[in-house]
Amino acid sequence: MKGDSKMQVSYHGHSVVQIKSNGKTIFIDPFITGNGLTDLKAEDVHPDVIILTHGHGDHVGDTVELAKQNDSLVIANADLCDFLSFKGVKTHAMHIGGSYQFEFGRVKLTQAFHGSGYVDEANKQIIYCGMPAGILFMNEGKTIYHAGDTGLFSDMKLIGERHPIDLAFLPIGDNFTMGPEDAAYAAKLLQAKITVPIHYNTFPPIKQDPYRFVAMLEANNGKVLEPGESIEL
Ligand code: NI
Ligand code: MN
Repeated sequence: MKGDSKMQVSYHGHSVVQIKSNGKTIFIDPFITGNGLTDLKAEDVHPDVIILTHGHGDHVGDTVELAKQNDSLVIANADLCDFLSFKGVKTHAMHIGGSYQFEFGRVKLTQAFHGSGYVDEANKQIIYCGMPAGILFMNEGKTIYHAGDTGLFSDMKLIGERHPIDLAFLPIGDNFTMGPEDAAYAAKLLQAKITVPIHYNTFPPIKQDPYRFVAMLEANNGKVLEPGESIEL
């Protein structure tokens, strides 16, 4: 049946995106515990696959516990994968510019301009977790782009040209990432069919009005997803 092959993509606050594709549940950046905006509870989440953009706590989130409890495969840059594998997590290491065809879809890591250290509070250490990334997820002839945490960069135009994007998730929080004005410029470079704002209102320094952001988009192609809302592709 054709209806079975569609992808269900939902937003769950901060940078948490869930994709249901080919009977698999895929989570990007599952920061659930401590995420005041999410509609999810970690114990109700059963990912087959977790894809991480970088090593910061508000993106790695519940990954280790979820992956162990659900035998999930974690996909990330090689350095972050090494770190997580030491914690007993099953990983598939990739790096910027590389793509791989999994049974549930194709994943490609793209560049992002940000940091990627994991804070080990107990030992007052920061553990290097490789270069931060954006994620392209391709399946069923559709392409989803999750920019991760990043500032604006002009090669977003290249990403959109190489892989015409159906749905883009862009950070708008400012302070740590692009703010609304830069994210609106990014949307113009990427030319996604639908652009959804993420990474805002979770913490005081990233307070933004996502509806103001969507109103700034030229092509009238923005959509605010409230936590728990989904789009079918
Ligand atoms: Ni970050
Ligand atoms: Mn972040």
